[in-house]
Amino acid sequence: MARKIHTLAGYIHEYQRSILDPDAFWTQIAETFHWQKNWSSVVEWEFETPSVKWFVNGKLNITENIFERYLHTKKNKPAIIWEPNDPKEASITLTYLELYEKTCQFANVLIKNGVVKGDRVIIYMPMVPEAAIAMLACARIGAIHSVVFAGFSANSLSDRINDCKAKMVLTSDGNFRGAKTFPVKEVVDEALKTTSTIEKVIVLERTKTPVNMQKGRDFWWHEELEGVSKENIAETMDSEDTLFILYTSGSTGKPKGVVHSCGGYMIYTYYTFKNVFQYSDDDVYWCTADIGWITGHSYIVYGPLLEGATTLMFEGVPTYPNPGRFWAIVDKYKVNQFYTAPTAIRALEAYGLDPVLPYKLDSLKVLGTVGEPINEEAWHWYHDHIGKGRCPIVDTWWQTETGGILISPLAGITPTKPAYATLPLPGIQPIIVDNDGKELKGNSVEGNLCIKYPWPGIIRTTWGDHDRCYQSYFSQFKGLYFTGDGVKRDEDGYYRILGRVDDVINVSGHRMGTAEVENAINEHPKVIESAVVGYPHPIKGQGIYAFAICDMSDRSEDNLKNEIRVTVSNIIGPIAKPDKIQIVPGLPKTRSGKIMRRILRKIANGEHDNFGDISTLLDPDVVEKIIEDVDSAS
Ligand code: WTA
Repeated sequence: MARKIHTLAGYIHEYQRSILDPDAFWTQIAETFHWQKNWSSVVEWEFETPSVKWFVNGKLNITENIFERYLHTKKNKPAIIWEPNDPKEASITLTYLELYEKTCQFANVLIKNGVVKGDRVIIYMPMVPEAAIAMLACARIGAIHSVVFAGFSANSLSDRINDCKAKMVLTSDGNFRGAKTFPVKEVVDEALKTTSTIEKVIVLERTKTPVNMQKGRDFWWHEELEGVSKENIAETMDSEDTLFILYTSGSTGKPKGVVHSCGGYMIYTYYTFKNVFQYSDDDVYWCTADIGWITGHSYIVYGPLLEGATTLMFEGVPTYPNPGRFWAIVDKYKVNQFYTAPTAIRALEAYGLDPVLPYKLDSLKVLGTVGEPINEEAWHWYHDHIGKGRCPIVDTWWQTETGGILISPLAGITPTKPAYATLPLPGIQPIIVDNDGKELKGNSVEGNLCIKYPWPGIIRTTWGDHDRCYQSYFSQFKGLYFTGDGVKRDEDGYYRILGRVDDVINVSGHRMGTAEVENAINEHPKVIESAVVGYPHPIKGQGIYAFAICDMSDRSEDNLKNEIRVTVSNIIGPIAKPDKIQIVPGLPKTRSGKIMRRILRKIANGEHDNFGDISTLLDPDVVEKIIEDVDSAS
C-alpha cells in the first residue's frame, strides 16, 4: 500500500520530498498500482501550450485497480452502500465482487450495443448504483464517459452531446428527489431532437414514470442485461488516454469539456482520498455530492473505490422526509467520514438544532467541506453540533480542472483553521501573483492563486479545442496554471480561498458563468440586454442578481420576471435561475461598450457609493437610476 501520512512531521517530510524530487515521490505511489506495462518517464510537461503527460507510455485500466487488485482481499467488503430517496424503500449494498460483476456485465452490454474504445457515452442519471456502474463500465472498455447532472435542461444536455459527439445516452425513466419525481427520459427525448450522433439510449427503470421508447433507439436496461456474461477482460488504456469529460462553466462562452486522463487521475484521486480523509479499512465514508459534479466522480466513485473503501451513495435530498435526513443516515450506517458542501450545512443550520438532536452522530471521525468558501459561523456550527467538537474539518479546495483536492488539512494530522483550506497537499506548489503576474512571496499576502508545477490529476485539455484550455487557464500568467480564485496566505502560511476573481458565480457550490446566464436571459424576446453578477446569499453563498433592460409594453413586471426565470430554467436548468431580477433603464457601460460589472456588483452587494471614477461611463446617470430603484429587485 502506498504511504499514508500519520503525523504532522510526516506531512512536512512528504511535502518537502514531493517538491525536491517529484519523480521519486509519485513513482513510489504509482508503484503500488497494477500497470499492464510500466511507464517510461514519470512526467513530461510545459505550461506554455500547455502539454502535460504523467506516467508516459504506461498501460493500465483503472477498473483493474479497483477490482482485480482487491478481489482476493476484499471481495465481500461493501463497495457501495446505497440509500434510496424514500427511507422506507430497502437500501442496497454491493460488495466488491458484486460491483465487479455488475460492471463487467454492463461493460458487455455497452460492447453489444456497438460502443468501442474512445466513443463518448453520456450518463444522465439519478443517484443510483447503476450510475456508478455505468461510469465504471465505460472505463472498463475504454469508452469516455461524460456525466451530465440530471438537473440540467434538455438544451444543456444537447449542447454537451453535440460538443463531444456522443454515441449513446444512459438514463432513467425518472428521478426521485424528495417528494417530487422528475421525468428524466422526457428531457432526453427533447434533447435528442437537436442532436444527430446518438445511436442508442439505454433506460433504467426507476420511477415507473411512463415513457416513450423509440423503436431501434431506446432499450430497457434490465432487458439489455438478460443473458449477458459477468466476465469481461479490461481494455488496455494508455496512461494519457481520456478517462472522462466533464463539462464546467467558465467566464466566457458555453461550458467546456474538461478532459481527465486514466493514469494520473487514478493516482491522484487515490492518494488524496486516502490522506485527506484518513480512511481506515472498516470505515464507512459518505460524500453527499451528485455524481454529475467532479466531487461525485473523484470522491464518491474513483478515489474511494481505488482505496478499496466503502462509499455511501444517497439518492435523495437533505430535507426529505425531514431536515434530519443526513443525520439519520449517518447513524443508520455508522458513517465515519462525512463530506458535504457549505451550502448544505447552512441550509440545515437554518432549521435549528431540533432535527439534529435525536441522533447520536458518534460514529463520525472526520467532517469535510467542498465547493465554496465556508463562512466561520457555519464552520463552527458544523464543528460543534455535527462533529460534537471531536472531528477535524477538512476544508478541501479544488476544482473540476484539478481532478482532486489540492489544498486541505489532512484530517487529524495537520492543523485546521475555520474558513481556511490551510496547506497544500504533497506535490502541490501554489504561488500567489498580483495582477501583473509578479509573485507575492512570504506570508500575509493576497492575490491570484496559481500553481507552478503539474500534479497527476491536472486537466489535460478542453475537449475538441485545446486553445480554449490555454486561454482559460494558462494565458493569464505565463508558465502558471491560473485557478481563477483569489487567495490570502496568512501570517502562519495558511491559505484562505477568497472566491472567484473572474466572471464566475458560485451558487450553492455550482459554477455558473455570468455570460452563460446572460445569454439565457437574453433569449427571452422582451429582454433587450442584461448583466448578471453574484451577491452574498445567506444559504447559497452567492445568489444570482440580474439587471435587465426590457420591453415592458405588454407585460406586468412580475409576469416578465417569471417568464425570464422559466426561460433560464429551460435553457440551462433550474440552478441558474436568477434570485433577483431588476428591470433597469440602462446598464453602466464604458464608451467602448463594456459593461462595468464592478459597479453592478457593488450595487448588488448593497453598496451605493464609492464607485470610484465613473466619468468614463457612457451615461453616468444610469448608475443613479439603478440605485434609486434597487428595492424593485425581486
Ligand atoms: C470553489 C468543486 C473555497 C472555488 C470541487 C473553485 C472553494 C471552484 C472550495 C471550483 C473551498 C471549491 N473553499 N472555495 N474549499 N472548493 N471552491 O469546479 O472558487 O465545481 O474555483 O469544483 O469552487 O468548483 P468546481
